[in-house]
Amino acid sequence: MSATPKPVASNGANDIQRWPDGSLRHLLTLDGLSRDDVVDMLDRADSYLSPQGAAPVRNDRLSGRTVANLFFEPSTRTRASFELAAKRLGADVINLDVNMSSRIKGESILDTIYTLEAMQCDFFVVRDASEGVPRMIAEHVQPHIAILNAGEASSAHPTQGLLDVLTIRHHKQRFADLVVTVVGDVGHSRVARSLYHALTALGVGELRLVAPAALAPDATLYPHAIVGNAVDDALRGADVVMTLRIQRERLDGAHGQPDATHYHTEFGITAERLALAKPDAIVMHPGPMNRDVEIASSIADGGQSVITEQVRNGVAVRMAVLDHIDQTRKRNLGA
Ligand code: CP
Repeated sequence: MSATPKPVASNGANDIQRWPDGSLRHLLTLDGLSRDDVVDMLDRADSYLSPQGAAPVRNDRLSGRTVANLFFEPSTRTRASFELAAKRLGADVINLDVNMSSRIKGESILDTIYTLEAMQCDFFVVRDASEGVPRMIAEHVQPHIAILNAGEASSAHPTQGLLDVLTIRHHKQRFADLVVTVVGDVGHSRVARSLYHALTALGVGELRLVAPAALAPDATLYPHAIVGNAVDDALRGADVVMTLRIQRERLDGAHGQPDATHYHTEFGITAERLALAKPDAIVMHPGPMNRDVEIASSIADGGQSVITEQVRNGVAVRMAVLDHIDQTRKRNLGA
């Protein structure tokens, strides 16, 4: 099989995530974003990076705005980085503690949104285990409100996709020459879906997706990728190796859970396997990691790993997204 990446058709979320002038009103999916959309966001993110150890970049572009973080699934990286991003742009931030919120008393998610909307929240950063929730909220909010998808079921994690391609761009300039290999639970991975859309928009040379049969994706969702289960073949000559954890929370308990030791033997990224990739290949993981399951601890901490760079780039990407969407709102609403 050969990959012929090109922009993919919209999955329907693009109609609602754009203003009539075509600019982004919400960020629900990377599906259908153009190369220019992605490059513009990456360039803006680069402007929000400062050297490690230096003071973080700050400005007041979101002064007077309020960002509400609504995470109906656990998160460390995404939630903390959206909070830092908003604060570094001068916004007010609330982090709703879902387990102590009135949703426990039966309040609907839309009533929670309307309640916070009445308190003049402008951005809702939403993570939910059910597909369609960010889009459904976007369909019901007032025109000045933006919804940012912070992880939706197995289908989308757009800011993760952007931070992943930003990290790749820092190490490998020409996407057209790259071979990117993703290994792990691709079938349940919203990270893989958003990475696919970002890499497709950027015209990646070849994207290989490798998973055990039980965790294999629906290949029709990845028409421009090579989907298989031969991990060593897929690693041969790769420039970028992304490994994914098993999403145990999405597996049906009745069908059992993969054994961690067996999985590591069959699909884990070890020194022996990594030696099949190019000598200057970078190793990525979106986190959270299960060390010595999908990735050997020595590789996670080794010289080819860019995992902590991914985390650092996540703050810059979220600053770029908040800033960009606030600018398009001002342009479209005049306020
Ligand atoms: N990569 C990622 O989404 O991590 P968190 O679940 O910690 O936010």
